[in-house]
Amino acid sequence: MSTAISEDGEATLAQQVRDKLRVRTPKSAVQNQQGAEVLAMEVVATVDMPHPIYIQSAQGARMTDIDGNSYIDLSMGFGPHVLGHRPAVVEEALAAQIKKGWHFGIHNPLQEPLARLIQDAGRNTERTIFCNSGTEATMYGMRAARAFTNKTRIALFDGSYHGTHDYALTKAVMDSDRSRPSAKSMGQGVPDMIKDETMLVLPYRDATAFDLIREHKDELALVMIEPVQSSNPRLDTKDFLHELAQVCRDNDVLFMLDEVITGFRIAYGGCQDYYDIGADLVTYGKAIGGGLPIGALSGRADVMAQFSGQRGREDGVFSGGTFSGNPLTMAAGIAAISHMQAHKDEIYPYLMAQGNRFTDAINTFCREHQIPAQVLNAGSMFHMRFQGGDIDSSRDLTTENANVEREFYLHLLDHGVIVPGIHLAFFSAAHSVEDVDAVIEAFKQSFLAVRADGLI
Ligand SMILES: Cc1ncc(COP(=O)(O)O)c(C=O)c1O
Repeated sequence: MSTAISEDGEATLAQQVRDKLRVRTPKSAVQNQQGAEVLAMEVVATVDMPHPIYIQSAQGARMTDIDGNSYIDLSMGFGPHVLGHRPAVVEEALAAQIKKGWHFGIHNPLQEPLARLIQDAGRNTERTIFCNSGTEATMYGMRAARAFTNKTRIALFDGSYHGTHDYALTKAVMDSDRSRPSAKSMGQGVPDMIKDETMLVLPYRDATAFDLIREHKDELALVMIEPVQSSNPRLDTKDFLHELAQVCRDNDVLFMLDEVITGFRIAYGGCQDYYDIGADLVTYGKAIGGGLPIGALSGRADVMAQFSGQRGREDGVFSGGTFSGNPLTMAAGIAAISHMQAHKDEIYPYLMAQGNRFTDAINTFCREHQIPAQVLNAGSMFHMRFQGGDIDSSRDLTTENANVEREFYLHLLDHGVIVPGIHLAFFSAAHSVEDVDAVIEAFKQSFLAVRADGLI
């Protein structure tokens, strides 16, 4: 690996692209400057755009920036837009709801139909509570499990992502024992007692996880897992998940599937359907709000009965939130999910096929051109990794080619394709076969440009 400055002082392709983008995006540059005067941070820390772009509008598979440039979007709002941007059914439902009012606080009749759609699509999703984010959903799942089992500790997996609350920020120490990881909290500001006294990190796709659950069963309330890890998307974990669920059952530990990103994306019934697996608790978010902020915790009626207000209990699990279950989000969610339900036999095979076709095309190209990079995918969600060799778990991921990665995404932008800085990308039902072809071509051209600059 080398720098992007050529030896004879000529502008590298990357420098030429930077100059071109600067000319093409003057309003974004101004916005970037003005934002820095008032915002501590723009979106999430991991969204690291190779060049600042601010989006004005979006439709279908495309976004337009404030300078009027159009892009094929692979960020899809970080996952919610399974149907693409602004699907007509959702827009119509929102317009109709806006005429009636968008937030009441007092009960509205729209939570019930959305909960019923979730009940029908999932396994054991007998009762649901709505909140405003996936973060809240996993927080409530943990709280409900603690209340139900009268135990404190929660287990999650090395390489997982469950949101931004203190408990979810428990991660594995990267150089700790792979099979028995030690825990740390991500970033500053989280008390050590969270990781030390309330959490347990399990190894992913490693049978030692089952031993650890058995060892800790008397203090373990819940094991939670993403059925597809966004850090390492793959669809070969069925046996591991089934064994995990069984070990939890055998040891009186609740089992929760975090389907915030996979629900209504991997299949209409999420990974519960894809892997033919049920859980005591399931979290949802992203897709179920039709593009508006949402989270949901769903699960067995007896576990969900812990929440206050059920069975007349005043000492139950507390949940709340000014905007939880608001009618605008519910209307968008009902419209989106009903549409997915009505068209599931077309939408889900299509998403799976396009994701796999793209992955095969890029991985073949990288192999043939000896480019040390690969796409990991779970159907329509995928991650570009700039390293060769097998990737078994997030422990195998490296950041040593971060400079190559940045330049690659810069070239992609020049070819009119936006991949989010977290680099987990999505196809939607609105991406046509031609769009996917264009993305494949843009990826190939971007690899060749990075190679021409001597970075690969
Ligand atoms: C599996 C999973 N759980 C929880 C979350 C947190 O959801 P939110 O960003 O809505 O808080 C995410 C977000 O990407 C997720 O992928």
